[in-house]
Parts: sequence; structure tokens; C-alpha cells
Amino acid sequence: MIDENLIRELITAADEARSRSYAPYSDYAVGAALLTGDGRIITGCNMENAAFGPGICAERCAVYKAVSEGCREFTAIAVAGSPVGEPISQFASPCGVCRQVMREFCDDDFKVILLTEQTGGENKYEVYDLTEVLPLSFGPTDMHIKPRR
Ligand code: THU
Repeated sequence: MIDENLIRELITAADEARSRSYAPYSDYAVGAALLTGDGRIITGCNMENAAFGPGICAERCAVYKAVSEGCREFTAIAVAGSPVGEPISQFASPCGVCRQVMREFCDDDFKVILLTEQTGGENKYEVYDLTEVLPLSFGPTDMHIKPRR
């Protein structure tokens, strides 16, 4: 289990990344903070596009940044999402595509930390294992390969 202080650090980083979201079409801002196996925190935010299709979620942004920097081992991700300018009042649940991208590089016990509420300066959150948010998944081992990490 990850320690409480580290969870808080990830949540703060996800919330800061949320402030850098580019979401003029949905007005829904999401930030993510990914914890790497060697203890680094790599952030991402959602980035939308006038052509809609090229937009990307915060979680995938963080994973792609990390992998492109040579990191393929991850322990946890924190996600913070809400309409632009509003505090978090319910969690942003990672979309199916992001869950599948996590599955490529993360083990079943990878932690998905969802910021659920911000009241009076306090951040509330829930923690799930990847296997809970993506049950009966299809991943690298089903292709009879050992993920190259
Ligand atoms: N979005 C994320 O970045 N992550 C999620 O977990 C849910 C949805 C983004 C995609 C889009 O830019 C906006 O939120 C509205 O769907």
C-alpha cells in the first residue's frame, strides 16, 4: 500500500496539472499524476482540439510522457477532474481507453487514486486497484508476451 503522504503528494500534483488543462470545448478540466517505479511523479492534463478526435485525456497524457522519457514501471496514478474553475465534487473516472493503456504497463495492484471532493481545503479521495476498475482485462500476457519494462 502507498503511504498517505505520498498519496497526498500525488493528489496535489494532479490538482496542479488540472490547472494546466486545455479544455475549451468540454470545459471539463482533468489532471493526473503518475508515480513511477523509481519514485518520480509525471503529470498530465487533458488537451482538446478543434477537430475533436486528436484530444487526449490527462491519464494517457501522463503515461505517454513517462514512456517517451524511458519509464515503463508505474505504481499509482492520481486523477482530479471537474468543470473548469470548480472545485472537485465527484471523481473523474478514467475512461475505458485510459484504463486499457494503464493495463499495458501496470500490474493488477497498480493504484488508481481518485480525488472525490475538495471542501474547506481538504482533499478527499478513494483508492482502487487497476483490476477493480478494469476486470477481466486483455493485456500483454494474453498475447503471450512478457511486457518489456
Ligand atoms: N477526460 C480526462 O482527461 N480523463 C478522464 O478521466 C475523463 C475525461 C477528459 C476528456 C475530455 O477532454 C474531457 O475530460 C471531457 O470528457
